Amino acid sequence: MKILVTGGLGFIGSHVVVELQNEGFEVVIVDNLSNSTLDVLDGITKITGKKPIFEKLDLREKNAVSNLFSTYKDIYGVIHFAASKAVGESVENPLLYYENNLNSLIYILQELQKKDKAHFIFSSSCTVYGQADSLPITESAPIKPAESPYGNTKQIGEEIIKDTCRVSDNLQAIALRYFNPIGSHESLQIGELPTGTPQNLVPFITQTAIGLREKLAVFGNDYPTEDGTCIRDYIHVVDLAKAHVAALKRLIENKSATNFDYFNIGTGTGSSVLEVIKTFEEVSDQKLNYQIVARREGDVIAAYADTEKANNVLGWQAKLSLKDALSSAWQWEQKIRK
Ligand code: NAD
Ligand code: WQD
Repeated sequence: MKILVTGGLGFIGSHVVVELQNEGFEVVIVDNLSNSTLDVLDGITKITGKKPIFEKLDLREKNAVSNLFSTYKDIYGVIHFAASKAVGESVENPLLYYENNLNSLIYILQELQKKDKAHFIFSSSCTVYGQADSLPITESAPIKPAESPYGNTKQIGEEIIKDTCRVSDNLQAIALRYFNPIGSHESLQIGELPTGTPQNLVPFITQTAIGLREKLAVFGNDYPTEDGTCIRDYIHVVDLAKAHVAALKRLIENKSATNFDYFNIGTGTGSSVLEVIKTFEEVSDQKLNYQIVARREGDVIAAYADTEKANNVLGWQAKLSLKDALSSAWQWEQKIRK
């Protein structure tokens, strides 16, 4: 079976391609290299021994998307990672995000509507919940007003898919709401490659530890949590990747009562910023230079997943620990800075 992976040279997409190939799927990667490089294709090939088909293409170009589906008529499913994902940038440049994240989604769905049968997996985010009213967060938690245009593109994206599925019996879709993906593949052939100043905690930690950054700013320790810092559900990117294979198999078996479903993908455990720092210091055997500073606007106090639905319906659960993920992130940072 041929699976189209958009954004497949990105952080999460590349790890999913490895797991798809390990499961015997044939993969076509589409990526415009706006936030990745062709080296990732070599990394994937070194891990699996199988070079995915690669098409350099910008999914904002409607004709290019249509030609892609004419070329690969036997695409059985699409896993859609391609998007812009920097929250802060989305506030500064909302139209870039609405154009890139929504137009590409619409053009792909228009092509899938033409097929006899189509399977679609969407990269969503726990950001759709905002600050949930209760924890752990279940899929029935209300969707809160988005805190950023980026978060809004995920909410609107899910609505677009839901409305399309309602009128497209040929389409089966799943949205996976990722919590906080971190870490890298054990082979150290692929991992997270943040461009510029990292927005996320773990790449900032590893870049501080290796000396690229002077110190980590901890955004607030006056939150109503045990140690005053925010709590998140950090999931190893390889566990997250395996959840995509489980979701694809769910679509293939076609036993769902609905043709649009959604799942929280996390570990089910929350960790505070200071706990992450402490765990990192253990795995790296070095003290991390950090300073408590003011809160970051838009941060929610705590978010961690209730994973029961993914466990029971997808038959998937996270197996790797925070320690495993931080250790792999640290090894990856050391490798790419050699
Ligand atoms: P990434 O930036 O590493 O990967 C995205 C890939 O898509 C990149 O390789 C980029 O070049 C490509 N791309 C972007 N726009 C494109 C376009 N118009 N045409 C073709 N290719 C395009 O990001 P990631 O962390 O791997 O995230 C993948 C998906 O998961 C995104 O949709 C993101 O919103 C979502 N997500 C990420 C996180 C996270 O913390 N990383 C959390 C929740 C959801
Ligand atoms: C985690 C915690 C920060 C950096 C974001 C997006 C979300 C998704 C995942 C795309 C928070 C603290 C961070 C730093 C810090 N991305 N922190 N110093 O904010 O939970 O989620 O990435 O979909 O949409 O919102 O992740 O890693 O930025 O922050 O203290 O230099 O670490 O305050 O509590 P977040 P994060």
